[in-house]
Amino acid sequence: MADPTAVATRKSKAKPSGKPAGAGSGQKAGAPVKEVLRKPARWVVYSAPKGGTGKTTSCKNTAVAAAKDGMRVATLDFDPQRTLGQWHELRRPHDVANIDHYEGTLEAIDEALAQIDPDRYDVVFIDTPPSVELYPEATKILLRRADLVLVPTGVGRFDKMSVIPWMEFLRDYGRPAAFLLNRVKRRSVSLREAKLELGRVGRLVPHEVPDIEDMHRVDDIGCSIVDVGSVNGADECLGAWYFIRHELGI
Ligand SMILES: Nc1ncnc2c1ncn2[C@@H]1O[C@H](COP(=O)(O)OP(=O)(O)OP(=O)(O)O)[C@@H](O)[C@H]1O
Ligand SMILES: [Mg+2]
Repeated sequence: MADPTAVATRKSKAKPSGKPAGAGSGQKAGAPVKEVLRKPARWVVYSAPKGGTGKTTSCKNTAVAAAKDGMRVATLDFDPQRTLGQWHELRRPHDVANIDHYEGTLEAIDEALAQIDPDRYDVVFIDTPPSVELYPEATKILLRRADLVLVPTGVGRFDKMSVIPWMEFLRDYGRPAAFLLNRVKRRSVSLREAKLELGRVGRLVPHEVPDIEDMHRVDDIGCSIVDVGSVNGADECLGAWYFIRHELGI
C-alpha cells in the first residue's frame, strides 16, 4: 500500500519544546531489584490515525499495570491536548503506583525523546495524537525507536478502515505491532467479525478491553481501572500488559 505518512503537510500548533512533568522523582529508587541486570528501557508506542480509538486510555491502563508489576515506568505524551498529562497531574503519588511523566511535541521529537534517560526505566509508554501521518518524519523516528507499536481500535467500520492500512504500513516498515481491541461488547458478532478482519493483516493482543462504565470515574481521580483492580475490564488491561511484557522479553 501507499505510505500513509507521505500525505503530511499540516503543522501542529503545539508548543515547540518538550516538557518533563513530574519526572525525576526516582522511580523505585533503591528498590532491591537486580539493578545490574536491568536493560535500557523498552519503548511502546500507541498509535492509530483515527481519533478516539483508545490510544490514551490504553496507554495509561497498561502503564499502570506495568508499574504495579514492578516495572520502572515512564509515560511520554506527544498529544498537544495533554490528556495523559492532565490525568497524571491528578494522580496521588502516595496512593498509586509511581509513573514519571514527560511531554513533548512531534515537531521537536529528538528533544522530546532525549529527555528520557533509558537507564532509569524498564518501559516507556508513548501516547500519540491522532493523524500522526501528518508528521511523516517525526513519526518514522518514533516508529524506529519503538520496540512495539500498539494500535488501539474499536470494532466499527470506520475504525477498521483507518487502522487496517496503518497496520499494513507498520508491517511494511518492519515494526513489531499488534491491534488492541478496545471498547468492545463481549461475545458480540461485531467483535468476532472485527477479530477476523483485523487478524488478516496483523496480530491481535489476545485480550479485548470492554466498554467500561467506570472509566470516567477513575479518570476523575487520576487513577486507572488497573489501580482499582476489581473493576470490570481491569483483567483485560492486565492481560494486555502481560502480552506487551512477553513481546518485549522482560
Ligand atoms: N474501554 C473503554 N471503555 C469506556 N470508555 C472508553 C474506553 N476506552 C476509551 N474510552 C473513552 O473514550 C474516549 C476516547 O478515548 P481515548 O481518549 O483513550 O482515545 P484516543 O485514541 O486517545 O483519542 P484521541 O485520538 O483524541 O487522542 C475517552 O472519553 C475515554 O474515556
Ligand atoms: Mg489521546
